[in-house]
Amino acid sequence: MAERWTPDSWRALPVRQMPQYPDAAKVAAAEQTLSKYPPLVFAGEARSLKASLGRVADGKAFLLQGGDCAESFAEFHPDKIRDTFRVLLQMAVILTFGGGLPVIKVGRMAGQFAKPRSADMETINGVSLPSYRGDIVNGVDFDEASRVPDPARMVQAYNQSAATLNLLRAFAQGGYADLHKVHQWNLGFVTRSPWGERYEAFANRIDEALEFMAACGVTAETTPAIRETDFYTSHEALLLPYEQALTRIDSTTGDWYDVSAHLLWIGDRTRQADGAHVEFLRGVKNPLGLKCGPSLDPDDLIRLIDALNPDNEAGRLTLIVRMGADKVVDKLPALLRRVRDEGRTVVWCCDPMHGNTITSPSGYKTRPFDRILSEVRDFFDLHRAEGTHPGGVHFEMTGQDVTECTGGAQAITDEALSLRYQTAVDPRLNASQSIELAFLIAEKLKQERSAQDAARRAAAAE
Ligand code: PEP
Ligand code: CO
Repeated sequence: MAERWTPDSWRALPVRQMPQYPDAAKVAAAEQTLSKYPPLVFAGEARSLKASLGRVADGKAFLLQGGDCAESFAEFHPDKIRDTFRVLLQMAVILTFGGGLPVIKVGRMAGQFAKPRSADMETINGVSLPSYRGDIVNGVDFDEASRVPDPARMVQAYNQSAATLNLLRAFAQGGYADLHKVHQWNLGFVTRSPWGERYEAFANRIDEALEFMAACGVTAETTPAIRETDFYTSHEALLLPYEQALTRIDSTTGDWYDVSAHLLWIGDRTRQADGAHVEFLRGVKNPLGLKCGPSLDPDDLIRLIDALNPDNEAGRLTLIVRMGADKVVDKLPALLRRVRDEGRTVVWCCDPMHGNTITSPSGYKTRPFDRILSEVRDFFDLHRAEGTHPGGVHFEMTGQDVTECTGGAQAITDEALSLRYQTAVDPRLNASQSIELAFLIAEKLKQERSAQDAARRAAAAE
C-alpha cells in the first residue's frame, strides 16, 4: 500500500491485466476528456446503496446483482437494456416474496466493459494476437487492427454507460417498475416455458395482494415503493485509468468517490493486497466488492479486509464468492469462520457462474445449470452451518432467449448451444433460466427464514 492514498497512488504499484496502449499521448488525452465529464452517479446514491448493503450484512435484506458478463458496443440497444432490467425485476419480486426481505437490485450494467483474461495472447490456426479485453479496451474481431488497445474506446464506453443509465433510471422511477405491471414483465418466450407458467400463477398472487392492500388504502399514490424502485449499477474496476478519470471529491462530504458506478468490485485475478487495484479502491468511499476464488486463503482475506474496510463499516465490503460447485464445500467454511471469529462485518454474496465454466464436447464455453444451482445450495447450507448470513447472489444473465448455459427446465443440450450463442466472453443464463433460479433460491430463502423463526422461538422459550 502507498503511504498516502491519492487517486493516482496505484500507479506506483505492480498492476495486472492492464492493456499496453501504443500511444501514451492518446491515453492522456482520453483521461483528460473523461475527467471533465459529469459523474455518472451521485455520491449520495452510493451512500444509500452502502446503507442498504449494511442491512444485507445484518440479514435484513438480500442482494441481487446481475447482468452481462461484458457489455458491448455492437449489441447496444434499448430492447436489450429493457429485457435485462425486467428479468432482474422479475427475479427481485420472486425473491422478495419468497424471502420476505427487501431485495437490493444492482445491475452489472452501464459500465461493465473491461475484462480480465487468463492469457495475454490468443492463438487461432497458428496466428497469435493480443487477447480481447472488453470493448472499452480493444475489438473482439480476430484481426490485428481490432486487437490494438485504443484509449478513445474509454470515451465511447462512458457515453454508452451514460445513455444506459439514463434509461435504467427512467425505467426504475418512471412507472415501468410498478408492481401492477408484474404480468407485463413476463417476456413472450418465457411465458411458454414451465417456469414462465409458474411465474404467471405467482403474478396472480401479487395482484391479489395489491388489490387487498388497495382496499386497505395502501396504493401507488400513498406508497411510492409500489410504483418505483431503486436500481444501482456496478462493474469490475479493472481499467484503472478510466476509473481514476471518473474519481471526484464529493462536495457534500469532502470524500473521494468513483462516480463511474455505485458499486465497484475487484476481480479474482487482480486482488493482490499489495497491488494497484486494491490500492485504488481502498481510497474511494463507494461500496466495494471483492471476488473470492478458490486460491484465496483466510489470512489473505483478512489482509484484504484490513486494506478495504479498516473501520469495519457495515455495507462497505461485499465478498463475492466464486469457488465452483466442486470446491465451495471445501474452501468456503474456513473463510466464513475466520471472518466471523474476527468480528468483520461483510456481505457474503454467491457468484455461482465463474467457478463453473467448462468447455462442452462441442467446443462451446458453457456452464451447466445443475452446477450453478448446486453451488448456490451449498452456499446457503454452509452459512446455515456457521451461523452467518447468505446475503446475496451474483449472476451473468440476460433478458434475451440465448442458448449459452446448458440445462434448466428448458433442458438446453450441448447440441443446442450453437442455436443462439451470442456472448462476447462468458456464457449467461437466459431469461427462463434466470427466473427458474430465482424461484429455487426463493425456496432456500424461505427455509432460511423458517429456521431463523424456529431459533427465535426456541430462544424465547428458554
Ligand atoms: C467477472 O465477474 O466477469 C469475472 C471476470 O469474474 P472473476 O474475477 O470472479 O473471475
Ligand atoms: Co464473466
